[in-house]
Amino acid sequence: MRVLFVSSEVYPLIKTGGLADVSGALPAALMKAGVDVRVLLPGYPQALAAVEGKRVVATLGDPLAVGGEARLVSAKLPESGVPVWLLDCPVLYDRPGGPYQDEAGADHVDNALRFGLLSWAAAHLSTEASPIKWRPQVLHANDWQAGLAAAYLKAWDSAERPATVFTIHNIAYQGLFPKDAVPRLGLPWDMFTIGGFEFYDSLSFLKAALAFSDRITTVSPRYAKEIQTSPAGCGLEGLLAERAADLAGILNGADYAVWNPHADPFIEHHYTAADLVAGKAANKLALQRQLGLAEDAAAPLLVVVSRLNDIKGMDLVLSVLPAMLRQGCQLALVGSGDKTYEDAFRAAAANNPRQVAASLGYSEALAHRLMAAGDLMLMPSRFEPCGLTQFYAFRYATLPVVHTTGGLADTVIDAGYDSLMTGTATGFTFEHANAGAFQWCLERAVALYRQPDQWRRVQSTCVFQDFSWDKSAMRYVELYRALVPQTGGNGRRPT
Ligand code: ADP
Ligand code: GLC
Repeated sequence: MRVLFVSSEVYPLIKTGGLADVSGALPAALMKAGVDVRVLLPGYPQALAAVEGKRVVATLGDPLAVGGEARLVSAKLPESGVPVWLLDCPVLYDRPGGPYQDEAGADHVDNALRFGLLSWAAAHLSTEASPIKWRPQVLHANDWQAGLAAAYLKAWDSAERPATVFTIHNIAYQGLFPKDAVPRLGLPWDMFTIGGFEFYDSLSFLKAALAFSDRITTVSPRYAKEIQTSPAGCGLEGLLAERAADLAGILNGADYAVWNPHADPFIEHHYTAADLVAGKAANKLALQRQLGLAEDAAAPLLVVVSRLNDIKGMDLVLSVLPAMLRQGCQLALVGSGDKTYEDAFRAAAANNPRQVAASLGYSEALAHRLMAAGDLMLMPSRFEPCGLTQFYAFRYATLPVVHTTGGLADTVIDAGYDSLMTGTATGFTFEHANAGAFQWCLERAVALYRQPDQWRRVQSTCVFQDFSWDKSAMRYVELYRALVPQTGGNGRRPT
């Protein structure tokens, strides 16, 4: 089975969030399951620098007239050895800043072309027009940045075309552009309709994918249901409800090769399930020292590793913070995002330097250290398609406190009377995304923290949670298998 997996970020080459973790780990798990998988991503300078064994395997010309040639660079992902194709087009990708935004935090002005070209290349490499002999039977595109691939395939109506799978990692990001992008991207106006990629008179990359892909998946069963209704569907709920038969929720996994407190290169003291109490205490002390927090073993240490915005519920964290500090908690945060939140956390840390530490920016090392040192990991997200940090928190015996939404609802079992009795509790959940409910939930968590026997029991349940990728990868393999016979098994269209 040949699968082309298209994504705008892939760990460890380039990462802004969970999409990168998935795009690094899922293809590796698919390869282990016998799938002949290749990953396609833009040739950002950081990515080109980080891959192994680079060579140019094709030139693709300048199909969208962006003012520079695109080349396909073939290489391998470090560690897993998964084959990758980097779409090298310096005029679009070789620039400072992140994958989506410039250094000042504004969207790159030509994102429609940057990701239009990614989608175009994915489609082109899947048809008989491709300069490469290897062609996928399944084109698996992820998030809006790869969303137009299915639209190009539909528009070209080539003799050879793969089955198409599209995964929604977050429906809040839709890739909306003024409609003059339609001809600029070489797309026909007759697809700019309500049944195509038109969305309130703009071009929607995401809607194109939802309208034209054979199958749609998202990253948890609960989110698959939520997005068929408002407000979670962000305006696309009608289309998703119509396509319900082709929509499945497949839970993400965790990459335990990267997130393992026994062998984590970023943390000071390694530990296993057998010595987690001592291991976590040592990491907590080391982190308190590093961040200038009071060196207090008994203070419940709340940690946040997150993008900072409303959807992640950062206003709720700020609202409950004074009360939690009064109850003796500490907060350590690593995050970046909306300036108002960055400023607010910076101010909270300046006002309470012995109780609050805010590292604003992106730090892989701190993310791991916080997981190892923390007692409670906060995730009061208003919506969370899956969430990965709760999986990491489990493995590091840091108990998650989460709003019951999306993948958080599917994966965290609240420490209530029954689950504590049966030993199934894995964290703390609250139903309504408001500060009162969140604070009450945190207070329950802190109360349990102060009962060490009960607390350790929950920690032990957490560390044995198994969300490894193998299980989820098998679900994708089943999905691919169900689709490929439809295309004759050889990438040819059914006649
Ligand atoms: P999302 O993709 O919505 O941001 P996930 O929970 O799926 O949420 O994934 C977030 C990923 O990004 C995790 O791997 C987390 O450790 C990482 N992360 C988020 N913010 C930071 C940060 N400031 N520094 C380092 N890693 C971060
Ligand atoms: C998105 C979602 C997150 C999910 C991740 C990987 O960024 O916000 O919930 O875990 O994608 O699928």
